[in-house]
Amino acid sequence: MSSELNIIEGESTPITKPAPATHADVKAKVESKNWFYTDIVKDHFFNPRNILINDADAEKLEFDGVGMVGSPACGDGMKMWIKVDKKNDKIVDCKWQTFGCASAIGSTSMLSVMVTENGGVPVQKALELKPMDIMNRLGGLPNRKFHCSVLGDKALRAAINDHFRRSGQTERIIVEGARIIDPDLKITDKDIEEAVLDGADTIEKVQHKLKVGVFNKSCLPAVEELIRFYKEKYFG
Ligand code: FES
Repeated sequence: MSSELNIIEGESTPITKPAPATHADVKAKVESKNWFYTDIVKDHFFNPRNILINDADAEKLEFDGVGMVGSPACGDGMKMWIKVDKKNDKIVDCKWQTFGCASAIGSTSMLSVMVTENGGVPVQKALELKPMDIMNRLGGLPNRKFHCSVLGDKALRAAINDHFRRSGQTERIIVEGARIIDPDLKITDKDIEEAVLDGADTIEKVQHKLKVGVFNKSCLPAVEELIRFYKEKYFG
């Protein structure tokens, strides 16, 4: 076995590369090498930029917006603080904490750099950032970890909305409400969004996960439309 240290997807601490596991899914990932992180991801995981290590630092922070979100896909959480240069409407500082995995740490570290680099990014430009942009700067993430990069993105949006609220710019707040798609099973567009983020990219896969439309087939066209919409939104 190589003595080289490899970060294993799904682990929050570095461990040495194990022999291929017997679980089919894990084995396939290891053999295809998609399991391992890029050097850029490893760098941001080992040296996270703008992370707040302890709560005492968070209490001292001067910020203009704070956002906290959880991931329905894995149960992890993310908190993010932003400072905004009000004169130029630019994000000049971005700090964060997470319970998330290595992918969440690496991608949020990169996101915090992207929104503050070159003297700060205009708030509107930050809102236009997509998780795919973070992925591209990282050189990729394992497919199953895409939802981890969405965690930082959602926390940023929540922090920006909070900034709009605090600064009286309520007309700029973006509300993403849940809409019921399958009334029998109470499945919403958010459930379908999470399923797509978790890798379900066809109606069959989404149905396998959620059982959506099993009793009420009339909702299936709306489900297909949402799958198309979220695939385009997150994967381009
Ligand atoms: S698995 Fe939860 S953030 Fe990555």
